[in-house]
Amino acid sequence: MTRHFTEISSVYRSVRTTDREPVKLIARELEDLARPRGADIGCGAGRYVLLMFETIPNLSLTCVDANPAMLDQIGGLLQASGVDRFETRQSSAECLELEPGAYDFVSSFNAVHHFDFPDFLRRSRDGLAEGGRLFVYTRLPEHNARSVWGRFFPGFAEKETRLLTLGGLYAAVEDTPGLRFAGATCLRYRREAPLDRLVEQARNRHYSTFSLYEPDEFEDALVAFRAAVKGRFADTVQWYDENILVHAVRDDG
Ligand SMILES: C[S@@+](CC[C@H](N)C(=O)[O-])C[C@H]1O[C@@H](n2cnc3c(N)ncnc32)[C@H](O)[C@@H]1O
Repeated sequence: MTRHFTEISSVYRSVRTTDREPVKLIARELEDLARPRGADIGCGAGRYVLLMFETIPNLSLTCVDANPAMLDQIGGLLQASGVDRFETRQSSAECLELEPGAYDFVSSFNAVHHFDFPDFLRRSRDGLAEGGRLFVYTRLPEHNARSVWGRFFPGFAEKETRLLTLGGLYAAVEDTPGLRFAGATCLRYRREAPLDRLVEQARNRHYSTFSLYEPDEFEDALVAFRAAVKGRFADTVQWYDENILVHAVRDDG
């Protein structure tokens, strides 16, 4: 996976769709804080980090990723956007060392299926102040299966075995002493795109699931995907993407 993320780091932002809704929900939860301090784990090339800076007033953020190529991208993006209240830190979620109790929130977008989730939860908890929030934005296995890729790209839903279920997310949070599950919001987005755009995304391995295919297997699946989509849609392809925003709180009781 390290190689996958290094290879796609320079195109990552252009091949993924960024959702504003989870960031608006996070901003609402933090609106009582004058100067929120957060850490985003698995920050990637920075599309959600930039959106958080645009949406959350007086934010300062520690941007953490295991991959140095992703951190290079994020540094360039934020500097070019005039954002300076950030630091980048190369670390895996499993070795994360945040200053104890120093953070108002920890977030992670589209990344927790790459982590050892219980380790990530424990280390995030340690960085949070009492009452601090944890936000996890991810898709569930059923979201993946109902997506345009799960429905039409052979093997996509079956190969992606890393996604956590809602029950698994809930249990992992509640099994972490000092964390309390506070809720989850399901978000559903109507999407449409020309088939060529979808093919470009898949060729750029915009979901890491595509890097689980052997080269010939991927080409065969892409041919089958094109045929299935052409048979189903006249011009533009239409579908729904679904995600969940999980919200937990540091609560030492
Ligand atoms: C699918 S990308 C999501 C990036 C970003 N959050 C976004 O939504 O645009 C997953 C990111 O997690 C990072 N990653 C993967 N495994 C990791 C780990 N164990 N610890 C920290 N980061 C990791 C990858 O380098 C990559 O940047």
